[in-house]
Amino acid sequence: MKRLRTQVGIVGAGPAGLTLAHLLDRVGIESVVLEDRSRDYVEHRIRAGVLEHGTVELLRESGVGERMDSEGILHHGISVQFEGERHRIALTDLAGGRSIVIYGQTEVVKDLIGARLERGLPLLFEVDGVSVRGFDGDEPAIAFRHEGEEQELRCDVIAGCDGFHGVCRPAIAPVLRTFEREYPFAWLGILAEAPPSSDELVYAHHERGFALLSLRSPHLSRLYLQCRPDENLDGWPEDRIWDELRTRTALDGWSLNTGPILEQGVTGMRSFVAEPMQHGRLFLAGDAAHIVPPTGAKGLNLAIADVAVLAQVLDRWYRTGDEGGLASYSETCLRRVWRAEHFSYWMTTMLHRISDDPFDLKLQLSQLRWVTTSQAAATSLAENYVGQPFELAS
Ligand code: FAD
Ligand code: DHB
Repeated sequence: MKRLRTQVGIVGAGPAGLTLAHLLDRVGIESVVLEDRSRDYVEHRIRAGVLEHGTVELLRESGVGERMDSEGILHHGISVQFEGERHRIALTDLAGGRSIVIYGQTEVVKDLIGARLERGLPLLFEVDGVSVRGFDGDEPAIAFRHEGEEQELRCDVIAGCDGFHGVCRPAIAPVLRTFEREYPFAWLGILAEAPPSSDELVYAHHERGFALLSLRSPHLSRLYLQCRPDENLDGWPEDRIWDELRTRTALDGWSLNTGPILEQGVTGMRSFVAEPMQHGRLFLAGDAAHIVPPTGAKGLNLAIADVAVLAQVLDRWYRTGDEGGLASYSETCLRRVWRAEHFSYWMTTMLHRISDDPFDLKLQLSQLRWVTTSQAAATSLAENYVGQPFELAS
């Protein structure tokens, strides 16, 4: 068996694992990133597209923001649509000058992989049989296979950045308390070669179900429709998708741009938190520890906020031996996580068709009127949407 040694062993090359490796490198801490998929797969897995103000600043200040700054699209507002009317929420005016940037998760991942490989730092794709151990004591290790060879990576700390279906959270399941909610609907998402029909994102409430207009570039639209969790895409030919989007977003004097559909998929909706986000020398970050339904655009941003804290406490620990920061990691992250959990749950239940009960509908319409007419309510939505400044550990 081949034996390797590093300071921080990172499982998963999604936004959490790659950003952590990058931030650690900036302060001179070595890491090895292990990913079970191929580079091509992780660079083309279409997911989130909205970067919070704090995420943008972190990527820029840490030196991987160049392409984001030239190709990302700065937005100062979003719209909420219901009962055939569209209402703008002026995010930047309401949230103290903060804004969001539209830049695909795929692009963030490509930038981070590019930066790491350019520096010649270890990032192994297509590993398998990953398992973690020794994190209860001083000798954490990750066992895995790569190119047919059994290997063992010894490290000081393991970062479980391996997403919801990874191996790190199950390894500490007995000490975790979990909180969960599943929703009886999902999103059918498409990427289409069509100029965006709206300059800003539109979150639309409709009796037939939720719809979202988003974008990736001046030529690419990203659009979502509420559907059943077990929706079969065979039942959704292109014409049906466009008809349904047109119906749910219809507005006098406005029309939806259409074009060839390049990609489509169904995403389930769940809320999930595992507490604490640490056990011994194993730290969970991102989707490995928590999931939000996508309506608040928080998943990717939370993953990056977690590892900003983790990189900071690890840096302090290596420099001073102070364990206090490490011990406060989970509590620091969970404050932000639960705010995002509530916001995402609130946006989800306000905007989707959640039942056939007219009482639910009345409550939704009342909330929608409130956030689009009360400055206080709109400010609350805006503050949550652009995200709180990144909090550092005590
Ligand atoms: P991930 O991106 O899941 O990265 C984990 C990595 O670990 C993956 O590369 C995985 O291959 C790897 N891995 C897993 N198991 C192992 C193992 N055993 N060994 C080694 N590597 C392993 N959020 C939004 O805000 N808006 C959206 O529209 C949106 N759409 C989404 C669509 C889908 C289909 C999914 C699944 C998520 C979506 N999200 C969305 C959520 C957002 O993409 C995630 O919150 C974000 O990817 C979290 O980053 P992460 O690094 O924590 O996890
Ligand atoms: C996108 C995804 C989201 O979950 C969201 O709330 C807004 C935009 C997107 O993929 O562009």
